[in-house]
Amino acid sequence: MSHEPWTATVLTIFPEMFPGPLGFSLAGKALAKGLWRLAAVDIRDFATDRHRSVDDAPFGGGAGMVMRPDVIARAVDAVKAKGALGPLIYLSPRGERLTQRIVRELAEGPGVVLLCGRFEGVDERVLEARAFRELSIGDYVLSGGELAAMVVIDACVRLLPGVVGDAASLEEESFAQGLLEYPQYTRPAVWEGRKVPEVLLSGNHERIRAWRRQKALEITRARRPDLLTEALANASSADRARCEASAREGSRAAAEDI
Ligand SMILES: C[S@@+](CC[C@H](N)C(=O)[O-])C[C@H]1O[C@@H](n2cnc3c(N)ncnc32)[C@H](O)[C@@H]1O
Repeated sequence: MSHEPWTATVLTIFPEMFPGPLGFSLAGKALAKGLWRLAAVDIRDFATDRHRSVDDAPFGGGAGMVMRPDVIARAVDAVKAKGALGPLIYLSPRGERLTQRIVRELAEGPGVVLLCGRFEGVDERVLEARAFRELSIGDYVLSGGELAAMVVIDACVRLLPGVVGDAASLEEESFAQGLLEYPQYTRPAVWEGRKVPEVLLSGNHERIRAWRRQKALEITRARRPDLLTEALANASSADRARCEASAREGSRAAAEDI
């Protein structure tokens, strides 16, 4: 087993953007403690002309520029030869949508090598030749892959051992068990006339746990029924009963509204 910390190697034409937000809070403290490592590598260092060009016009015409396969390949091969850990990932709006399942998978590995595109993107041949996995952070287009790389890294780093103080908080948050998280409350107990749900003040941990589970099921059913279908396939009979009860409650309330 490797004793190297989990490492993110980022290939970018803007290495000075890193660590950026990753230098703060949980990720920043963990970086300072050596719980993970970051290497931001300038793709321009692998250009061969005096302008350090990384892009050229697209064959076939059209707007914008495309990142050259030879320059990208030299950058990738160099970091791999130096021992960069983990799979090659190209951040791309065409990619597989990033989910907590993929984040867990990446966080369990030795690290990631993230290629940040700019302009119109990257020449297809280098993606094929170096077998990049493509990941998207959502159905919208950013102007570059750097913010997407930061999203991937942040999501992975908080799952690494020792990064989040109380690991129990990772088990209960959204997506951890296939559901969205239950609502959270803190002081004051009454704010603008709104009271915190009574059960949370009861001190009865079993009732609190059941209430939170119920709310997580209700919120997931209302906002992300796609997640609920998957979660219920692996759910306990108590959860299925809770869900059926909240569905009955929901349709009764809807009928009363009519
Ligand atoms: C302007 S975009 C290129 C978009 C590309 N022409 C297309 O239509 O798919 C430039 C770079 O931003 C990054 N990017 C943009 N949107 C992204 C997303 N939703 N997820 C991940 N990376 C993204 C990619 O690295 C991409 O190469």
